[in-house]
Amino acid sequence: MSRVIAIDGPSGAGKSSVSRRVGRELGFLHVDSGALYRIMTWQCLERGIDTSSPAAVAAFAPSVAVECRVEDGAIAYYVNGEPPGERIRMPEINANASQVATVPEVRARITAILRGLVAHGDLVVEGRDITTAVFPDSPARFYLTASAEARARRRQKEEIEKGIANQSAEAVKASLLARDKIDSTRKCAPLRKADGALEIDSSDMTLEQVVEAVLEALPADWRNDLA
Ligand code: DC
Repeated sequence: MSRVIAIDGPSGAGKSSVSRRVGRELGFLHVDSGALYRIMTWQCLERGIDTSSPAAVAAFAPSVAVECRVEDGAIAYYVNGEPPGERIRMPEINANASQVATVPEVRARITAILRGLVAHGDLVVEGRDITTAVFPDSPARFYLTASAEARARRRQKEEIEKGIANQSAEAVKASLLARDKIDSTRKCAPLRKADGALEIDSSDMTLEQVVEAVLEALPADWRNDLA
């Protein structure tokens, strides 16, 4: 049976970098669950669906076909035969994704896709409800967090480096806090630290230190795969 490392936390806590590195160390496939919510949001916007209408989003969700392929140690998503690329990282998607992620039909659809990925092998899955709702029985569950300032700084740097946007640190922080609020107060599978998940505050830690903390906390026999 496939093993799953589950990592939840707010935006900018470092989940992607940490998950990718942990996956590489262990040979587990990296799964970015947020990208699926972003794809749903992108498709809604492309088709002119009103993302503030849960009924409209719920009716549209089943028509979005997402293909999952294993590529370079990760699960890559394709929509109509094409990878969405940076189109799902734009500020317009950031501004609408939390809303789309409140819709139970969207969450049920994406949860089913994520659970199906175990057919591809061992996984390290990052998101907001992976430890609480998607894989709550995993023996390796983490809640990765950091101060709002540290998270905004990282996101701003990332956006500038990728040429996605050039927003002030204050604007990035405001957008991040607005999303945190929606993600943690929604009715269906809100972001919260699961009972039994190990909390790691990465504000003053390097990426290497966080990766080490995750690896050390894994069940002993999972660490046998370390190079
Ligand atoms: O991690 P991210 O910023 O790419 O996530 C995009 C949006 O999707 C964000 O508003 C939170 C939501 N999300 C979620 O509700 N559940 C997940 N498992 C992953 C992301």
